[in-house]
Amino acid sequence: MSNALDDAKRDELVEAATAVRQRAYAPYSHFLVGAAVMAAGEIFAAPNIENASYPLSVCAERNACAVAVAAGNTQIEAVAVVGTGDKPTPPCGGCRQVLFEFGGADLMVIVASPSGARAVWTLAELLPSAFGPRDLNV
Ligand code: THU
Repeated sequence: MSNALDDAKRDELVEAATAVRQRAYAPYSHFLVGAAVMAAGEIFAAPNIENASYPLSVCAERNACAVAVAAGNTQIEAVAVVGTGDKPTPPCGGCRQVLFEFGGADLMVIVASPSGARAVWTLAELLPSAFGPRDLNV
């Protein structure tokens, strides 16, 4: 388990993910997700955005990474994800890969349910032996 962020910062990140979850555009699945990433001490948050052409839907985690990158941040320290239902929703496989791009193996992944249940992992625990930028020698 990672300890990269103190409790107050973890709470702040979960609060940002919870707030932006209300902006989810999920008329097809009705599964609202909010994600917030911490980069250079700042928080960047986004919800999932679905599309009538279902495969074009984009998860909250990937949208939050896009917001951070658009603001000039390509290194993230932590991510909080708040899904729907009583159990914390872990990031999907595709999002784990995208989070690895910007956060690496030590990224702190905080997953919370709207009712307050929480789990914390490192990305290495969720995506062991990941393929990443270093494998391309860049
Ligand atoms: N979703 C996310 O936003 N993040 C995940 O990690 C899992 C799934 C979204 C995609 C889709 O809009 C809805 O949740 C149901 O799969």
